Amino acid sequence: MDTFSLARLHQLARAHIGKIFVLNGLQPYPPAKIKRIRAEPIDRGDDMSKAQVIHELGPPNAMRWEDWPVPGPGAGDVRLRHTAIGLNFADTYHRAGVSHPWPVPPCPVVIGFEGVGIVEGVGEGVTEFRNGDRVAYCIPPLGSYSEIRNYPADKLLHLPDGLGEREVAALLLKGITAQYLLHRTYAVQPGDTILVHAAAGGMGLILCQWAKALGATVVGTVSTGEKAEVARAAGCDHPVVRSRESFVDVVREVTDGEGCAVVYEAIGKDTLQQSLDSLRPMGVCAAYGHVSGPPDPVDIIQDLGRRGSLFITRPAIMHYVAKRGDLERTAHELFKAIADGILDANVNYEYALKDAVKAHEAIESGTTRGATVLIP
Ligand SMILES: NC(=O)c1ccc[n+]([C@@H]2O[C@H](COP(=O)([O-])OP(=O)(O)OC[C@H]3O[C@@H](n4cnc5c(N)ncnc54)[C@H](OP(=O)(O)O)[C@@H]3O)[C@@H](O)[C@H]2O)c1
Repeated sequence: MDTFSLARLHQLARAHIGKIFVLNGLQPYPPAKIKRIRAEPIDRGDDMSKAQVIHELGPPNAMRWEDWPVPGPGAGDVRLRHTAIGLNFADTYHRAGVSHPWPVPPCPVVIGFEGVGIVEGVGEGVTEFRNGDRVAYCIPPLGSYSEIRNYPADKLLHLPDGLGEREVAALLLKGITAQYLLHRTYAVQPGDTILVHAAAGGMGLILCQWAKALGATVVGTVSTGEKAEVARAAGCDHPVVRSRESFVDVVREVTDGEGCAVVYEAIGKDTLQQSLDSLRPMGVCAAYGHVSGPPDPVDIIQDLGRRGSLFITRPAIMHYVAKRGDLERTAHELFKAIADGILDANVNYEYALKDAVKAHEAIESGTTRGATVLIP
């Protein structure tokens, strides 16, 4: 039996046999104990989801719309039915096997780590959530490209009244990321000049809006004149079309030659070295994304030391909100920024979850503006 079908068999066994053991008060698995169980009816409908299943990492059509078994929620887990799913560029790395701080489990696998839904069941020990609650999450474990899934209660958030599910699916991960990038990776001060790449993208628009509210001057890079106007409307003071103008020159001009305090570097390979050229001494490069590919290695003496004792970091959301207190605090600040009218969700694209292949093709083309959500 090949690796794939063996893995699939184990998964089905966990989903169905595991449930029988749990119903009988025994430990789920190993299959060798099957003989000792009394037969119980299984409601297979409750345990089967449609999902975008990947059997081999690759291009967008590596995702296939298939049945995916979901076992009953284990201890500490919540069963939820998705109502909206956030599409993130990192999903394309996970699908394709591009290097990313969060590893992808072996295939077959369902990717995605941002979702909004309704609670349909809770596992042992879960007291904070009950059936019917509106909930949301934005950190792994992966598995949001599905109709139903189990998710750890200690990483789950209640949805505030008055916030729409599509809006939260578009804003939660990107907004929490913007919050920690602007307040913790580097604490933006009024009067700072900052550089935001891909300023009309999902992350870029949120960074521009929030940084403007903090009193920063924002230089933002984009690929077209139309995107420059989208970024300007979100608070970007100096949109730069990268193919027409040097963003290093614009930053130097705006800062009287000093350089910017921080660069929010999302493009990676194509721009990292010029981003370092844009920084003031002791400036911070927050290399939080790499849409053009992982950047070349950085020489800490030549690239950082010689340019002016620069700092560089590769921040990732799952580390910044790994502690429950940080997750709750950051989400609270995000929800407040939405309520205060600082942030607009910019949900510009909606696809049915079954059409996730098209959604991936669209964001990888680099032509989208703002956020994309998937609807199960
Ligand atoms: N570290 C974290 O915690 C964290 C959290 C969220 C997102 N991220 C990362 O942030 C980056 C941006 O995310 P996003 O949600 O803003 O993505 P997005 O909405 O899809 O925007 C990406 C933009 O990048 C630009 N781009 C430049 N070169 C590109 C290329 N070769 N292929 C595709 N796009 C290219 C395009 O804008 P122009 O046409 O204007 O160039 C495109 O619209 C991603 O790398 C993502 O993984 C990191």
